[in-house]
Amino acid sequence: MSLPPSSFTVGSPLPVGSLPPVGIDRLGLATPSYRLPMSVLSDARQTPLRKYLVGLGQEQMGVLAPDEDIITLAANAAREALSGENLDNLHSIVLATESGIDQSKAGSLFVHRLLGLPSTCMAYELKQACCSSTVALQNALQTVALNPSKKVLVVASDVARYGFQTPGEPTQGAGAVAILVSAHPRLLVTGLASGQHTEELSDFWRPNYMDTAVVDGKYSIRVYLRALEEAFARYHQTTGLALRDFARFCFHLPFTKMGDKAYHQLLRHGVGAEEVEAAPETQLVPGQLYNRLTGNTYTASLPLSLMSMLENDPTDLTGSRLGLFSYGSGSMGIFFSGIVQDGYRDALFAETHRKQLKTRPALDLATYERWFDRAKPNENGDLTTELITTGSFRFAGMEGHRRVYEPTSKPAVTNSSAVAVI
Ligand code: HMG
Repeated sequence: MSLPPSSFTVGSPLPVGSLPPVGIDRLGLATPSYRLPMSVLSDARQTPLRKYLVGLGQEQMGVLAPDEDIITLAANAAREALSGENLDNLHSIVLATESGIDQSKAGSLFVHRLLGLPSTCMAYELKQACCSSTVALQNALQTVALNPSKKVLVVASDVARYGFQTPGEPTQGAGAVAILVSAHPRLLVTGLASGQHTEELSDFWRPNYMDTAVVDGKYSIRVYLRALEEAFARYHQTTGLALRDFARFCFHLPFTKMGDKAYHQLLRHGVGAEEVEAAPETQLVPGQLYNRLTGNTYTASLPLSLMSMLENDPTDLTGSRLGLFSYGSGSMGIFFSGIVQDGYRDALFAETHRKQLKTRPALDLATYERWFDRAKPNENGDLTTELITTGSFRFAGMEGHRRVYEPTSKPAVTNSSAVAVI
C-alpha cells in the first residue's frame, strides 16, 4: 500500500483537494444535577480513598435525579451546541447511546421535539457500546463533506451502571456531549481518515433483561489496549502519521487511569515511540480533568475528554494535531485525529462548563442508593416524577406507556425536601 505524501495534513484516503475541511464546530455538555464524591463511597464500601483517587483516577460521579435520564441530558447538551445556529441547516440529529429507553423509537426524536427542530431534520439512534459516538461522528463527517452547507448534530448520552459493591461501582457516572459537525469547523478539522480494530468478544455487555452491565474488568482493560495498538498501527498505515506528529492525546476514559495505561501503551508500542519522550502532564492530563468529575459517560467519554483538553490546556493549541482513541466493548477501537483551529477558544463554553461541574450539589449515600432504582410505571403504564432536576428539561413520567418530557423553565429552587445533600 502506498503512503500519502509527507505534506498530507488532514488525512483522507479520498482525493483531499475535492473535499471541504470537515470536523467539529461546537461541543455542548450536560451533566446530572447531582454528584457523589468518592469520599462518600469509600467510607461506605470501606475501601481506601486513594484507590479511587489514584488507583482509578476518579474523584466524583454524576448521579441522575429521578426526573433526569439520557434524553434530558441529551436535550440540555444539544441546546447548548445549537445555540445561535440556523436550525434549517441541520441535516440530522443522531443519538449515540447504550442506555436506550426504547427498543424501537429513536431517543433523538424526543430531543427533536423538545428543541423544536424542523421536520426536514432526520433523527435516529446508533449503537456499538462506547464507540457509537465516534461511528456517528464519522458518518456525520461524510454527510457534511458531501453537503457542505449542512450540519449534523451527534449527541452522545449515557448512564454507566454496575450496581452496589461491585468493582465497577466507583467507575459509574452519567453525562452527555453534543457534537456539532460542519464544513469549515471552528474547533477541530478531523478529515475522514481513521484506523479501526474490530473483533467479537465478551468483555462488557448489558443483556436486554438487565439494567446493570456485566463486565470482566481485567480482561476489558487488556482488550482495550490491544484494540488501541492495532487501530493506531492501521491509522499509521493509512496516513503515514507517527507518534511524533501528535501534540496531545484524548482517550475513551471509563476511569481516567485508563488514559494513563493507554498513553503508555502507545509510547511503548506505537510507531515512532523511540522518537518521543513521555510528557503526560502536558499531553494527557488536561484531557482527563472533566472525566475525573463525571465518571464513565460511555459514548460521551471521548468527546468529554476532547472538550476537557480544549477548555483546560493552558497552551494555545492552534494548529496542533490531537490523537483521539475511541473504544467500545464487544469490541471495536477507532483511532483518528484532528487539527485545532485558529480562534477555537472563542467557540467553547469553558466557563459555563467549569461552573456546571463545580456547582452540582453532593448527595449523601442514602439518596444515591435510593435513586439508583429507577421508578417503574404502574400496570396502566403511568408514572409521575417529582420536580428535582436543575436542568432545562425533565422526564415528567409516563402516561399509558408513553414517556413524557417537558421544559422546566429552569426552576430557581428545586424540590429540596426530596434531596438529601451533604
Ligand atoms: P478492581 O477490582 O478495583 O481492580 O477493578 P484493582 O484491585 O486492580 O484496583 C484498580 C487499581 O487501583 C490498580 O491499579 C491498583 O493497583 C490500584 P493498576 O494496577 O491498574 O494501575 N490500587 C490502589 N492505588 C492506590 N492506593 C490504593 C490502591 N488499591 C488499589 N490503596 C476495574 C478495577 C477497572 C477492573 C473495575 O472498576 C471495573 O470492572 N470497571 C468497569 C470496567 C471498565 O471500566 N473497563 C475498562 C476497559 S473496557 C471500556 O473502556 C469499555 C466501557 O467503557 C464500556 C463500553 O464500551 O460500553 C467499560
